[in-house]
Amino acid sequence: MNSVFNDEPSQIVVTCPPGVAHVLSRELSELGFRPGASLGSSVETEGTLADCVALNLRLRTAHRVLYALDVFRARNGEDVYDELVALPWERYLDPDGYVSVDRAVDNPTIRDSRYAALKVKDAIADRMRNACGRRPDSGSDRTDACVFLHWVGDRASVYLDTTGVSLSFRGYRAVSSEAPLRETLAAALVLGSGWNRRDPFLNPMCGGATIAIEALWTAQNRAPALLRDNFAFMHLSCFDPSVLTRERASARRDWEEGRKNAPVVVASDVDSAAAEAARANVEAAGAAGAVQIECCDVVASPVPPVREGGRGMAILNPPYGGRIGDPVRLRDTYEDLGAFLAVAAEAGYGSVVITGNPELAEGAGLSARRVRTVHSGGIECALLFDASLSQSARRRFRRRNPGIRIPDAEESLPRGQDAETMNPPQRTASPS
Ligand SMILES: C[S@@+](CC[C@H](N)C(=O)[O-])C[C@H]1O[C@@H](n2cnc3c(N)ncnc32)[C@H](O)[C@@H]1O
Repeated sequence: MNSVFNDEPSQIVVTCPPGVAHVLSRELSELGFRPGASLGSSVETEGTLADCVALNLRLRTAHRVLYALDVFRARNGEDVYDELVALPWERYLDPDGYVSVDRAVDNPTIRDSRYAALKVKDAIADRMRNACGRRPDSGSDRTDACVFLHWVGDRASVYLDTTGVSLSFRGYRAVSSEAPLRETLAAALVLGSGWNRRDPFLNPMCGGATIAIEALWTAQNRAPALLRDNFAFMHLSCFDPSVLTRERASARRDWEEGRKNAPVVVASDVDSAAAEAARANVEAAGAAGAVQIECCDVVASPVPPVREGGRGMAILNPPYGGRIGDPVRLRDTYEDLGAFLAVAAEAGYGSVVITGNPELAEGAGLSARRVRTVHSGGIECALLFDASLSQSARRRFRRRNPGIRIPDAEESLPRGQDAETMNPPQRTASPS
């Protein structure tokens, strides 16, 4: 058993999509870690490199798991070099291996952050050459050992990045669809929706089914990185493979147990190419048969019954009008989405709509009980919780679609809600 890997606790910083750190904090608590300070797109905790293995395998909203080696003051690049050349890199890195250095730098003496990364690489190379007579190669390939420098003002921290390629790459995306959500953000939507994981989960407008797959995996208690066969921690010289074997076996046992009672999950899309992409992704995710895929318009999307007294969940990511779709025609699409939500709410479903164009939702007559802000692909997006279509928008929908029944506004309030709790969409500050 390698004691460097197993017995040396340090600060761990876990990064995530902006706006969902509160969900990541909850995940950390549920895994038995104590979440500390959160900075909007990261949460601190504490643990060993062996703990980082479990975090990499099981966290759904995390991008990277960073294990702190040193925190220090640095006024300039020379200070960084002087501090890091004294670190015992030979305890972590293979002198015949490879290391990449990534950085986030905001220091007045640094105009090009590549210079800061070079200082880190020089320090590692000189230390390793002195200690071992050899030094690892270095470059930008993130599939091997990884080091991360965070340097803001005169405060610098250096980490072993135990992840490498972001954890949002689950390893199942067989076919790429238009404007897919990052898996980590999709997982945050599922975890933050309040879904009970036993009643049905609906994902109309599913695109590549990212949200549906994350929902199924969450309900099955399936660790999201089980398909990945490469993590940066595997390339550390102190890596103890028995830890990964043990953690994978434990995650597989949890999945075996969790999949016995998985709920109904339905994904649908009007576009046949998107439905095909969804089918391929679901299959690659080992979820064929567990996610029902339909090719249909949002208004025709199935709404299976929820259990007596239960509450299903519908999460939708409609086009925004930016990357895909025409904003004028999209008004009708948002109205149709509202009609679907009306039917679903009457049947006992809560809902979350993620849109980069909340004005479009408002213009179509949708108002939400609660609104949060997140970022997706650099676009500020609103999360509309339990959005409901205004009575006048319902009348307009009925005129356009005389054959389709939707309930009146007061009939389709989500269970446990009343009209007073409805507010027009409002932006709230990003939680951090
Ligand atoms: C932003 S994409 C969804 C991306 C998805 N969340 C993912 O991660 O792959 C919006 C999807 O809505 C679908 N769509 C647009 N209008 C629709 C409608 N009226 N009914 C059903 N689906 C629709 C599009 O075909 C597209 O796949």
